[in-house]
Amino acid sequence: MIIQADQAGILRAASLLSHGEVVGFPTETVYGLGGNAFNEAAVRKIYALKERPQSNPLICHVASGDKAELAADLSVLTTEQLDFFQQLASRYWPGPLTILLPRRKDLPLVVTAGGGLVGVRVPYHKIASDMLGQINFPVAAPSANKYTKLSAIAASQVEEAFGSELAILDGGLCHVGIESTVVDIKDGISILRSGFVTYEDLHENFGDAVRVGGVDAASSPGQHKIHYAPRTPLNIRDGVFKKPTENAGLIVISGTASELDLKNYSVVETLSPKGDLVESASKLYDSLHRLDRLALDFIDVEPCLKTGIGAAIMDRLRRAAANFLKE
Ligand code: TXA
Ligand code: MG
Repeated sequence: MIIQADQAGILRAASLLSHGEVVGFPTETVYGLGGNAFNEAAVRKIYALKERPQSNPLICHVASGDKAELAADLSVLTTEQLDFFQQLASRYWPGPLTILLPRRKDLPLVVTAGGGLVGVRVPYHKIASDMLGQINFPVAAPSANKYTKLSAIAASQVEEAFGSELAILDGGLCHVGIESTVVDIKDGISILRSGFVTYEDLHENFGDAVRVGGVDAASSPGQHKIHYAPRTPLNIRDGVFKKPTENAGLIVISGTASELDLKNYSVVETLSPKGDLVESASKLYDSLHRLDRLALDFIDVEPCLKTGIGAAIMDRLRRAAANFLKE
């Protein structure tokens, strides 16, 4: 059931979380499927609802940077790691950055999938922030979508995935529209998942301490090859492409569609005609959800450059298309 996110709605969501229930809630990136991280049954319910294997850890959300210790143990960080943590937190929190930190010893292991690190994030979104401000435990929350499927950036998309049983705080459309950047600070700053906070931005502030940590399944178990996928076959147009059938869609990530494309495809969506990739990122999931409902034969995507937030956009599209790659 979709709950209006007024004061009463926010209090209700906080109360449900306190009672071990699972709640859908908006953040600036995508909707989360949250539960009390210290309530094992609630955490297991998240995995079950999402149909996510328990080997893939959950991020803990807290109201502010000084609440990171609700989930993490900062006392075991080295001086250098603590310095990176403090600089990252002061620069990017609240906001779309998830920092991997040593887990508190009393945090249930199911949250971190048995690992020693926990992802911590302080959302910027007012509703998420107000909800988290009402409680004194971290909220474990993956993105509010079924395992490997498209992330949700509207309450209705969360309801579509999980049904009307789930309480979902309605925050309208998420304005960032793409997931947080995940970094670890073990040895410098490694980007494990690209996201709204870009490599370029981190590099500008931290120089060569920043690395793209790659998509090593061992270091970030969520980096499955197939992820974020619609039901309709998705294909990235890399130079050569076939003439579409009568019933195909095209998403142009950046810039406008050509006359030929407008003629060839039954539906064409341009995410940012003026070529602003931040705008494209904010519209990507919504566009994929919309085209996925049209029973198209396939969806082609005209890619963008992998610089700035383009790296996160192309990472998501590559995984979304992986399902449908021909050998
Ligand atoms: O923007 C976001 O991050 C959203 C909103 C709801 O906050 N959340 C989100 O969660 O995208 P999820 O679970 O769908 O993706 C989190 C990613 C996964 O790839 C996961 O494997 C990785 O972060 N991750 C989380 N905890 C980790 C840990 N302890 N060690 C390594 N990777 C971790
Ligand atoms: Mg996800």
